[in-house]
Amino acid sequence: MTKTASISVLNAADQAAAVYQSQEALLDVSGVTVQYSNGRQLVTATYRVDFSIKSSDRFVLLGPSGCGKSTLLKAVGGYLQPTEGEIRLRGKTVTRPGPDRMMVFQEFDQLLPWKSVLDNVMFPLVETGKLAGRAARDKAMQYIEKVNLARVADSYPHTLSGGMKQRVAIARGMAMEPDILLMDEPFAALDALTRRQMQDELLQLWADTRFTVLFVTHSIAEAIKIGNRILLLSPHPGEVVAELNSPSPDMHEPGWQTRLEQKINSMLFANEEITEKAHG
Ligand SMILES: Nc1ncnc2c1ncn2[C@@H]1O[C@H](COP(=O)(O)OP(=O)(O)OP(=O)(O)O)[C@@H](O)[C@H]1O
Ligand SMILES: [Mg+2]
Repeated sequence: MTKTASISVLNAADQAAAVYQSQEALLDVSGVTVQYSNGRQLVTATYRVDFSIKSSDRFVLLGPSGCGKSTLLKAVGGYLQPTEGEIRLRGKTVTRPGPDRMMVFQEFDQLLPWKSVLDNVMFPLVETGKLAGRAARDKAMQYIEKVNLARVADSYPHTLSGGMKQRVAIARGMAMEPDILLMDEPFAALDALTRRQMQDELLQLWADTRFTVLFVTHSIAEAIKIGNRILLLSPHPGEVVAELNSPSPDMHEPGWQTRLEQKINSMLFANEEITEKAHG
């Protein structure tokens, strides 16, 4: 590369970073503590968690089992109210669920078994009044095609593999074109090969549409692969340990992934044994 070319590449990268920095936050989570009442006892699931997400971020919540990742996601979804702190989407406090935040879960049974793939994807579009009739059908088909399931659009969930069911759930969430897609370990129940394939497909979908996603995982490797930003949470109760932005800047150097995994591991489990699940 010539000197001039390398300078212009650097400028483009700097410019992109400056544009990113100047963007308003889409989602603001500030000082969020969530407690559950367990009979007469209070269980603190997360403690004073802060983070903010910008448009088109692939923001990952990473931490060990029980650190409150699902709790935080449910609070962002509006299914739980924080005991302390506030969650704002586009500046408005989140108080209830809404079509601007769609969730994708780990479980394969999140689809309606008596509805076809197409009807499952159309369901929230129609139910929320966002679209009707032909327009809803076309929008649903557009996203079913994006996840490569057009050939099974008329099939029922029980005839699909686990990976296919998760693709339907992703298409259903994306078809609503929400402000933010909330994904709670969506690939954790898949075999290693399918899991890797689904991660690649999600990144491809992101490259196509640049949607904003808040993605929960307890897999360090998955967090590194999916996230442009990773929030590390401590074991129960979940508190922010660190936030890693653009966690893979030295991707061109051999062994970067292993080194980054080790670094995250030591930050997360400074005093604990490593319990990372093996996967692809
Ligand atoms: N409905 C509930 N009632 C009481 N305690 C709860 C409830 N849901 C979760 N908890 C507790 O809150 C803490 C955080 O749970 P949460 O499910 O958010 O963790 P997580 O990080 O998603 O874990 P995992 O990786 O296993 O899914 C845990 O101690 C859990 O036992
Ligand atoms: Mg969970």
